[in-house]
Amino acid sequence: MKTSRTAVLVKPDGLQRGLIGEIIARFERKGLKLIGMKMVSLTDAQLSEWYQEHKAKSFFGDLKSFMGSMPVIAMVWEGIDAVPVVRKLVGTTLGREAEAGSIRGDFSMSQQYNLIHASATSEDAEREVEILFNVDELFSYSSALETVVYAKEEMEQLK
Ligand code: CMP
Repeated sequence: MKTSRTAVLVKPDGLQRGLIGEIIARFERKGLKLIGMKMVSLTDAQLSEWYQEHKAKSFFGDLKSFMGSMPVIAMVWEGIDAVPVVRKLVGTTLGREAEAGSIRGDFSMSQQYNLIHASATSEDAEREVEILFNVDELFSYSSALETVVYAKEEMEQLK
């Protein structure tokens, strides 16, 4: 177990479909802690860096123009094992195959319009957080809920 933070984007389709509140509520109810959030229009340079692993893919251009077509909601969530926990809540890439109960499984039918991005690894998370947030846009605070979300020995890892 490791306390970590992860980057999440509500993509343009999530914004258009009015799912921002629903998505945030799922992370809150799980017990994750929100440590940064903003609405932002991603530049072509930011998107090239963000999606560097997809540079050679046929959908790279379309993906970048879709993601840059309107603002996204960028968030950073923190918790023990936050990266895999959030990936599980988000579900697999292809919306129509994603597990029922996950965000994509419940709300998406598409591969590209899959509502949300979540960091795949801790290394990706650190890179993605850096692309989107300045240090003074991330917050450290104690949450009143932590003592009921985690057992005492797990709380030690949050320090
Ligand atoms: P995500 O996993 O957040 O990051 C890469 C994104 O590329 C993925 O979500 C989809 O939105 C998009 N994507 C993946 N595969 C395809 C594809 N075959 N066609 C179009 N978009 C895709």
